Amino acid sequence: MVVVMTTWSIREVPVSETPDGAWLLQGYTDAINDVLLDAWGNRDFERTATEILGSMRDQRYIRKPRLVAVADDEHDAPDPARILGYAMVNLPLQDNTHTAQVEVGVRPAHRRQGVASALYDAVLAVVRDAGRTTLTTSTDQRAEPPEGPGTLAATTGVGRLVADDAGPRFALARGFALEQVERYSVFDLPFDEDLVAKHRAEAEAHAGPDYRLVSWVNHVPEEWVDEYALLNTRMSTDVPLGGLDLEEDVWDAERIRVTEQQYQDRGLALLVMAAEHVPTHTLAAFTCFMAVPNSDEFVHQDDTLVIKEHRGRRLGMLVKAANLQRLAAERPTVRRVGTWNAEENSYMLAINVALGFRPAGGSGEWQLRLS
Ligand SMILES: CC(C)(COP(=O)(O)OP(=O)(O)OC[C@H]1O[C@@H](n2cnc3c(N)ncnc32)[C@H](O)[C@@H]1OP(=O)(O)O)[C@@H](O)C(=O)NCCC(=O)NCCS
Repeated sequence: MVVVMTTWSIREVPVSETPDGAWLLQGYTDAINDVLLDAWGNRDFERTATEILGSMRDQRYIRKPRLVAVADDEHDAPDPARILGYAMVNLPLQDNTHTAQVEVGVRPAHRRQGVASALYDAVLAVVRDAGRTTLTTSTDQRAEPPEGPGTLAATTGVGRLVADDAGPRFALARGFALEQVERYSVFDLPFDEDLVAKHRAEAEAHAGPDYRLVSWVNHVPEEWVDEYALLNTRMSTDVPLGGLDLEEDVWDAERIRVTEQQYQDRGLALLVMAAEHVPTHTLAAFTCFMAVPNSDEFVHQDDTLVIKEHRGRRLGMLVKAANLQRLAAERPTVRRVGTWNAEENSYMLAINVALGFRPAGGSGEWQLRLS
């Protein structure tokens, strides 16, 4: 038997004008989709080159180097199939400038040859060069294992990973600590309308007349843009962070508008449902779905937050139940909503479970402090 060892080099994916003819971008996208399909067994998280490029073209608040391992070829053929694996780094430019978020993935057919190690070394050089000292990364799992041998517990004490999976092995071998475990949950549509209506009515009765629902798609009405920016800022610190070394990430109206433009360029649609505190004309809570360009069956549940001053009034249930009803009415083709929550976020998980979200896997959130 002849064993053919592939050799490769690491290249950066250029930020092109369009995805047409951008073979490194296409290979980067295909590699991400291969890794996601292998991890999850479905295409719900699949991405497109246009959507990825739309994100790469907006680097005002986050620098976004994207690297690929390209199989050597004597003619350097512009063939996306030559991409063996990918790495992405997000370097926040405004707040949390001590941190870098990293993701490394290798196509299943090319694993255990050192591709990820090479990509990780290249990423580490970028991270050190940018003066970052805290690195975070994520690993996916299809099901959370029951307590017992062969599992890893988060430093929060809540949630477990399968210790023997490739991702955790890779992260542990590089000195990362498991700071948090997230639960992934899926909500199926069509849903039990009476159940969701009952939860909404109970939440409305509990919250009382001081709160009123307001909603929009993509473009935040001028009236609410500063308030919505404040909710986004609070989202960065008011959610459980485990041992993750993150500080406040400040949003203002300008950043909201820049991000709206980015989402439009990527073909994403954000369906926001917020609760106004009428006496103060401020926003007390919000939740949103993110619809993606390549699926009309799947949407992401994006951020949900009730700010601390307004907790205990069932506003979380109110905005979530109302947004599910609105999703069913406005996007009748949607069959699944996917959501991520920290395992220690018991209040949010309780709301999701009551509404009918079912556990469908999760992730480990890892952190490494560079000396
Ligand atoms: C994790 C992943 C990136 C590894 O890619 P790879 O190219 O196979 O990794 P390498 O060949 O460079 O292996 C590096 C080290 O990772 C660990 N490792 C990787 N896969 C492993 C496996 N299946 N079992 C045990 N250890 C493994 C080992 O420590 C290995 O070193 P060794 O080969 O000297 O034992 C790949 O399996 C993948 O894409 N998984 C899904 C995405 C993911 O989890 N990414 C997060 C990584 S932080």
